[in-house]
Amino acid sequence: MVSSRAKKVTTHTLQEMKRSGEKITMLTAYDYSLARLVDGAGVDVILVGDSASNVMAGNDTTVPMTLEHMIYHAQCVVNGVDRCLVVVDMPFGSYQGDSKLALKSAIRIMKESGGHAVKLEGGIEIVDSIKRILTAGIPVMGHLGLTPQSIYKFGTYTVRAKEEVEAKRLMEDALALQEAGCFSIVFEKIPANLAKGVSQALDIPTIGIGAGPDCDGQVLVLHDMLGITKDFSPRFLRRYADVGEAVDGAVSKYIDDVRNGSFPSHEESY
Ligand code: KIV
Repeated sequence: MVSSRAKKVTTHTLQEMKRSGEKITMLTAYDYSLARLVDGAGVDVILVGDSASNVMAGNDTTVPMTLEHMIYHAQCVVNGVDRCLVVVDMPFGSYQGDSKLALKSAIRIMKESGGHAVKLEGGIEIVDSIKRILTAGIPVMGHLGLTPQSIYKFGTYTVRAKEEVEAKRLMEDALALQEAGCFSIVFEKIPANLAKGVSQALDIPTIGIGAGPDCDGQVLVLHDMLGITKDFSPRFLRRYADVGEAVDGAVSKYIDDVRNGSFPSHEESY
């Protein structure tokens, strides 16, 4: 548990951590209660991911998420945070192909949620949007490799950039995002060696998910690492708890206690 007086994490903190070789920790959260626990445990960055679409709403993809959904989740998270940097995913359709729309969407997220930065998926093709968002002083995190918002273009969630041409393109995209002014980049599901090489080539910190140990930090989806989701077991996922099992046990016991009349007891009654 970290003191609530601990120094707030900023984009500069992350850049300093890369310089000093200290690994950055990032987890997703989508609501007040879990954000409060994650922040209190001392993680550096909370990502209000559009993975909320999968783990909160039960959708198959992240495509249905709207600005309103993301703003709502981000507001809830911000209310639970004292210290973390809160990065909010820009949802599909809120920034691609139109830099003015991107700026408008990013301003709405910052104003209405109180988040501290936004994250966008894509490389050179979204540099105009990134640059325009940065003109408003909004910090931008990039996201390369497996970009779930483009699932219908790729068709699968398999490892990206295994072939040389795609790997070269990823390096070019990463350099373009850095040049555009991103403060950090997420690498999702790419070969560890590629992530290592690109991380070394960049001055800004990289955060990996399924991208090996040599990124400057790591991120996992909270519901996956806590064992709340059961039907998702990629190789990169380490489960740190079995909260699903704990919930099942507690709810079953509650049902038994209500049915057999042992809850509520005399002491639990007025
Ligand atoms: O939406 C999300 O949770 C993400 C992470 C997987 C990086 O983008």
